[in-house]
Amino acid sequence: MRELARRGETIVVLDDLSTGKRRNLDGVAGEIEFLEASIADPQALARAARGADFVVHLAARTSVPRSVEEPLETNAVNVEGTLRVLVAARDAGARRLVYAASSSAYGEARTLPKAESMPAAPISPYGAAKFAGELYARVFTRVYGLETVSLRYFNVFGPRQEPGSPYSGVLARFLLALVRGEDPVIFGDGEQSRDFTYIDNVVDATLAACTAPGLSGQVLNVAIGSRVSLNETLRLLARLTGRPVAPRYEPPRAGDILHSQADITLARQLLRYEPRVGFEEGMRRTWQWYLSEYSPAQS
Ligand SMILES: NC(=O)c1ccc[n+]([C@@H]2O[C@H](COP(=O)([O-])OP(=O)(O)OC[C@H]3O[C@@H](n4cnc5c(N)ncnc54)[C@H](O)[C@@H]3O)[C@@H](O)[C@H]2O)c1
Repeated sequence: MRELARRGETIVVLDDLSTGKRRNLDGVAGEIEFLEASIADPQALARAARGADFVVHLAARTSVPRSVEEPLETNAVNVEGTLRVLVAARDAGARRLVYAASSSAYGEARTLPKAESMPAAPISPYGAAKFAGELYARVFTRVYGLETVSLRYFNVFGPRQEPGSPYSGVLARFLLALVRGEDPVIFGDGEQSRDFTYIDNVVDATLAACTAPGLSGQVLNVAIGSRVSLNETLRLLARLTGRPVAPRYEPPRAGDILHSQADITLARQLLRYEPRVGFEEGMRRTWQWYLSEYSPAQS
């Protein structure tokens, strides 16, 4: 959104602030129209989509463990909500809808890296719901002619990611623990790995997906294309931050996959996507942000 504002685009944001924070709009609030509303509300969606060329659909319940505890709620937001956003985009005559899909669609596929040609096999209610959103997007392309592109993001991280909830992403939790001088918690033995992708790369791919030609109905991975284990991540963080890091290991969580790494060939070809910010540089930038926001001296 900051990038869209920088480019001088007209922007409408619809968010119910259920996990999002208004202060994440600091610095761009004057340049956007903000509607505090749910994607369950068709009127609010119609208002937000009116006159839009592009709809980028990011709203979701994003936590795997929360989806295990509350599958109906995850379905209502991630499946029914996505369907409502598709309807609103179709009815508004939008040129294209870009949907934030998820690497969780691959589930426990053993082959690495994970390519879009592999069958989807989600293992959590969250993964199933995000995959259902892709299916609906494709159907809207076929049945109604709405151009859609689904981007399977792989573990996104960066500044402004909410760290304070048990449902927060793993890097956000690690960084908050380190800022506070606490021991980071790892669920499992820490050898599980992820293709952690810095947010700027995801923004590049998402904006490219709005306008790149010949993409309609496509599903594309968005990642860096390498993987790092949680234990390695904490060793890197110890080096970057100069702080002692002694993880606390707890039992693995239901629904969590073991390894994740993307094949990004298709995004390279079709979006001319190239990850600009590597994992280590992304961690450095993110650490700086968490330090400035959350260190005890600041609060
Ligand atoms: N972060 C990742 O690693 C990752 C990986 C794969 C896919 N994704 C997808 O990317 C998107 C953005 O994820 P994020 O990490 O920024 O999560 P986030 O929780 O920070 O953002 C989701 C936003 O959706 C809003 N929202 C939730 N329910 C809503 C509703 N009913 N109506 C309106 N707004 C609602 C929240 O308030 C929040 O601002 C999601 O669709 C997620 O599934 C994220």
